[in-house]
Amino acid sequence: MNQKHLLFVGAVLATAVSAPLFLASAQPLPVHGGNEKIEQPMEDLNGSLKRLEKALAAKDTAAALPLIVKMQSACQEAKVEAPAKSAEISDAAKKAEFLNGYRKMMIGLQKDLLDIEALLIDGKAEEAAKIVAEKVKPSKKSGHDAYKGE
Ligand code: HEM
Repeated sequence: MNQKHLLFVGAVLATAVSAPLFLASAQPLPVHGGNEKIEQPMEDLNGSLKRLEKALAAKDTAAALPLIVKMQSACQEAKVEAPAKSAEISDAAKKAEFLNGYRKMMIGLQKDLLDIEALLIDGKAEEAAKIVAEKVKPSKKSGHDAYKGE
């Protein structure tokens, strides 16, 4: 073995020895900022919710209908993505629990939005407004407390 070969073997051995040390110290870091594939539909959800509340206060179910459909689409988009906070969880079972919890909560929101759509079709603005106030709006805080990062 010539000197070049010896240097090469030495470099390979050094890498092999130090790699596990490096990997062992690589803990997930706190994540700042969110997944924009969730943030964008969430912004849409927020904007449509404000307009929906105004339409319902005016008993304008015709104006409310396309807004609720928009909110359903936004929910659908965000539901299939992973919140940025999930990157902080290294344990596989805990990560799955977090992601499943997020997805199921988004499904719950979608169900409420579908119930509201059915009420709007029947012209029941007051009943629709009740679900918005009692379920849809509070889901923002509970969803963010559990799944949104800093
Ligand atoms: C009508 C109800 C909701 C509204 C109006 C809403 C609104 C928003 C807004 C305005 C943002 C910030 C977007 C940005 O930074 O540009 C956001 C982010 C976020 N929301 Fe919601 N939200 C709602 C419900 C929920 C629910 C139920 C969950 C969880 C199941 C959730 C999870 C999140 C997450 C995880 C982020 C940050 C994205 C990330 O960390 O990757 N939201 N939301």
